[in-house]
Amino acid sequence: MTNILITGSMGQVGSELIDYLLASYQGEILATDVRKVELGDKNERIQSEILDVRDASKLNELIDQYHIDEIYHLASILSAKGESDPFLAYNVNLSGTVNVLNSSVAKKVKKVFFPSSIAVYGPEAKRDDAGTRHDSIPTTMYGITKMSSEMLTQYYHRKYNLDVRSIRYPGIISYKVEPTAGTTDYSVEMIRSAVKGLPYTCYLREDTKLPMIYMGDAMKATLRLMNAPQENVKVRTSYNIMAYSMTCKELENEIKTIYPEFNVSYVPDSRQEIADSWPRSINTEDARRDWGFDPSFDLHNTVLDMVKNLKVLIH
Ligand code: SER
Repeated sequence: MTNILITGSMGQVGSELIDYLLASYQGEILATDVRKVELGDKNERIQSEILDVRDASKLNELIDQYHIDEIYHLASILSAKGESDPFLAYNVNLSGTVNVLNSSVAKKVKKVFFPSSIAVYGPEAKRDDAGTRHDSIPTTMYGITKMSSEMLTQYYHRKYNLDVRSIRYPGIISYKVEPTAGTTDYSVEMIRSAVKGLPYTCYLREDTKLPMIYMGDAMKATLRLMNAPQENVKVRTSYNIMAYSMTCKELENEIKTIYPEFNVSYVPDSRQEIADSWPRSINTEDARRDWGFDPSFDLHNTVLDMVKNLKVLIH
């Protein structure tokens, strides 16, 4: 049986990953977050603890106390919030990751998952089909911490043989938890507004194009990578994944096939500069070849499924 610790369990990804892990593992799950973890009517195999990932000794204690075998380290300050408090982002994202890697080596944790991001690319990267390896330099603190963490994961794998695996998530579209601190959040906000019958003011230009994926596909990819035989995991920085890339206007048009009266205006703010520094699409060949990345949802099906689920949640 495998016991799993999740950091950042209350975030957009963590709150959904718990259910996917419950379905595919037999062991216990320890859901941690810097704020109280709300488990609702979740399974009896889940326990929760408050954990600030900057606190290495508490992390060590929890790993011992709950006999942790694997860690999914999701706690992070996202791109937009990171630009309003870069020092916080530096500390949580980088010190937190070093703590998780150090504790994993010291406590002989068998596997670690680290989510990286399209934010590792900088403005001079290839705009379309950007490859796994690149020599661009990220310009946001979030990107800098993710890029540095990727280098650290590779280092801990080489030096300590730690089985740490990573995916560069694109923008993730999901309905359960509203994302609030990232640059790609507009995609979720736009669909939510349409379902609520409200107009939406988008903080990016209508022609801004970014790589995206629906949450279910991102979670399936994460578990597929984590369950792949070690010898298949050839990339120890981070694997690119994305299902489609779209402009804000393309998303608006797709929503309008369901809500023709939906009204969107575009008033770019400081997040435009962040979005402009990221690629429009990324190359996913390595993930497809090494562990069978194969997303099912395109933009059309993502919007259909989001609307179906949000209608139940919102009304
Ligand atoms: N979704 C993240 C953000 O916008 C990118 O990894 O910050």
